[in-house]
Amino acid sequence: SRTVTRDADGALTVAGIGVRELAETFGTPAYVLDEADFRARCRAWREAFGAGADVFYAGKAFLSRAVVRWLADEGLNVDVCSGGELATALAGGMPPERIALHGNNKSVAEITRAVEAGVGRIVLDSFQEIERVAAAARRHGTRQRVQIRVTVGVEAHTHEFIATAHEDQKFGLALADGTAAEAVRRVLRHRDDLELVGIHSHIGSQIFDMAGFEVSARRVVGLLTAVRDEHGIELPEVDLGGGLGIAYTAEDDPSEPHEIGKSLSEIVAKECDAAGLAVPRLSVEPGRAIVGPGAFTLYEVGTVKPLTGLRTYVSVDGGMSDNIRTALYDADYSVVLASRSSAAPPMLARVVGKHCESGDIVVRDAYLPADVAPGDLLAVPATGAYCRSMASNYNHTPRPPVIAVAEGRAREIVRRETEDDLLRLDVG
Ligand code: LLP
Repeated sequence: SRTVTRDADGALTVAGIGVRELAETFGTPAYVLDEADFRARCRAWREAFGAGADVFYAGKAFLSRAVVRWLADEGLNVDVCSGGELATALAGGMPPERIALHGNNKSVAEITRAVEAGVGRIVLDSFQEIERVAAAARRHGTRQRVQIRVTVGVEAHTHEFIATAHEDQKFGLALADGTAAEAVRRVLRHRDDLELVGIHSHIGSQIFDMAGFEVSARRVVGLLTAVRDEHGIELPEVDLGGGLGIAYTAEDDPSEPHEIGKSLSEIVAKECDAAGLAVPRLSVEPGRAIVGPGAFTLYEVGTVKPLTGLRTYVSVDGGMSDNIRTALYDADYSVVLASRSSAAPPMLARVVGKHCESGDIVVRDAYLPADVAPGDLLAVPATGAYCRSMASNYNHTPRPPVIAVAEGRAREIVRRETEDDLLRLDVG
């Protein structure tokens, strides 16, 4: 986060508030989200692409009503991929025309709600869905704007479980074997109910190498050309998806939004020029790159257990229930002693949670001062994306709150769950 410093006692402060005060007021564990950082990234992404493009924030990274209001303020759109995300986007006041609905298996109820709400786009992901969305639009008496999600056959350089553009995966309609072209034909048969505005491609997550996007853009423009040649129409929009990487540790070196914007815009323009196509309106869907860097998780140390000849296990009061990414993707995080400074020498530590499972690791290997002790606060940076949104109640653990900090003030934008919340669903 951009506004994190240390105060005179060596404690971390964010947006002018010390972490000890945050822990006293809100308890731990807690996600602490720097509103100014979030908004600055929104603006950087918008400016990077300019007025000729749209930035859709990927709500799956983290969504709440407050965040939706920030997005609406900053001129971003939002992409949702479930009825719950759609409901949150609408409840936060996002104008429906600035919402896109994704998903490989949207229910008829979700589709119907989206059509009735008047969402700006539905991204079609299967032949069945073409018929379902057309039927919903017909029932509602509207013409729904749609894009077709294609798989371009790009393997993004990232963890296998989060790469989404292999041909052998569930999303999209394949370009290579003509499935995508057939989808275009089928959508165009529903001209009264569907308005085909563009092609969508998402190639993966936590990507640093822009080469994958170049190939993706080239192939998508190839489809636009084929559509023009076959149907005599030029589709006005191209969405290149999200997946732009962020720095989880000092080894990660992400590009700045303006570099990414420049390179993607240039590639699309160049390919369109070569094909004799008008340059379509570009959109992108960063989630992690907007909400990830500006948040950290604040934990309290409970136990410290040195293992002879190995490392010291430092247990915190959360774990895999508030950050599943280490266990699920082998993700790397860093950690710092947040509540004070220390002159003690570094020791090799593993930060683990409180769950009944040995894979419950937050930070696999990290150096912490050797005097780390129960009661100390630790901060794990870059937990704004896919931590609260993928949190679980494993071991009947209430999920932590999200605390927004701005200009010396802190407030819960998602409150801490209570044991009553957990029991509320039990029947009998
Ligand atoms: N657009 C589409 C169609 C997507 O499927 C995704 C992510 C995004 C945009 C946003 O990607 P981002 O810019 O946030 O990387 N839970 C995993 C990542 C799975 C993401 C799936 N789709 C994680 O924790 O890394």
